Amino acid sequence: MKYLIIGSGGREHALYWRLLYDDSARQGDVYAAPGNGGIADNYRVDLKINDFPGIEKFCIDRKIDIVIVGPEAPLVNGLVDYLEQKKIPAFGPSKAGAMLEGSKLFAKTIMNKYKIPTAGHIEFYDKDELIKYIRSVKEFPIVIKFDGLAAGKGVGIPESTNEALEFIKATVKEDTKVFVEDFIEGEEASILGISDGNDVITLVSAQDHKRIYDGDKGPNTGGMGAYAPAPLVDNKKLSKIYEEILKPTITGMRKEGIPFKGVLYAGLIIKGNDLKVLEFNARFGDPETQVILPLLNEKLGGIIEKSINGGIKDYRISFKDKYAVTVVISSGGYPGDYEKGKEISGLDDLSDNIIAFHAGTESRNGRLYTNGGRVLNITALGNDLMEAQNKVYSEIDKIKFDKAFYRKDIGHKALEYFKL
Ligand code: GLY
Repeated sequence: MKYLIIGSGGREHALYWRLLYDDSARQGDVYAAPGNGGIADNYRVDLKINDFPGIEKFCIDRKIDIVIVGPEAPLVNGLVDYLEQKKIPAFGPSKAGAMLEGSKLFAKTIMNKYKIPTAGHIEFYDKDELIKYIRSVKEFPIVIKFDGLAAGKGVGIPESTNEALEFIKATVKEDTKVFVEDFIEGEEASILGISDGNDVITLVSAQDHKRIYDGDKGPNTGGMGAYAPAPLVDNKKLSKIYEEILKPTITGMRKEGIPFKGVLYAGLIIKGNDLKVLEFNARFGDPETQVILPLLNEKLGGIIEKSINGGIKDYRISFKDKYAVTVVISSGGYPGDYEKGKEISGLDDLSDNIIAFHAGTESRNGRLYTNGGRVLNITALGNDLMEAQNKVYSEIDKIKFDKAFYRKDIGHKALEYFKL
């Protein structure tokens, strides 16, 4: 099988790694467009993720069997539909299916119609109405969300009327579709399922760490680290999530005439037995993928084929009885302004049991440089979470570049709250 992976982050390097090393695809059979410094130059394709004709031409020239779409933007823009029209199999939802991520209000409509548990919300199509409503709110925090894709920046959780008004002033334009959601307390977990449009299989649970600083402080990022499985989600909860969230969403989408294929990622908030969907994504999570794929027992390529061609219902998936931790090393200043082009050293000194997934890296003349906010994902497995965490943190300082930054507490929630 020949694969082309679309994207350039840690998630895409993890997909590449998994197909090549654990699925045993042959060198030369897995390409990434545009990829990053972790992918050999010969297998990087100099194409933009939304250059559909360019992607099509590459697939025809190189006889690619399956395109795997990493990020949300090309999905929401219809890459899977485009390739399918050209008879090139692609993994991921159609443009209409990807609206579960592309329009939070569409997702809310589906959740409410099919009784999928989620927070209550009120929609606003007029900025003055929104401001009037905010002035009437008595209890904070509240959650203010934008409807469309906003690269993680479309959510505000103001603690007071003034904070809410400032957030609106800074971010909401006259034509921004906005909704206000009830704030729900609890712990977050990411549950990813893979669907063929009819049924869905559930992957091992994971937890992301979205804030930049230790103790979940500071601004949101794309994700500073993750671990799997999340002890918060035991097998009973995982079955409940399948029955009450993943399966009804897939069934609901089919009833709407929009069969959803690919990854259905449910971002959940959990308190005791109460589960609610905070958001859906229509793709693999980043950095969750960097801890989920190393734990997978089956071949990723086989699951992807089932998603495209059908047969997920009878697929038995299993995961290693281990834990995985990944810690993101970012450029100093991220998620605000940061510099690129810093030389990276130390990767060759990492022990064999560490996997370094690249994200914002670029290789030039045999040297490696930073090229983004999130630079590397240092990953390890362990028999328990602490062992995996210790392995990562005992090695991570071997990696050096100017102003490198990482959180020191990835996995802390599980270790503190669940006394593992
Ligand atoms: N880990 C968050 C995301 O992938 O959106």
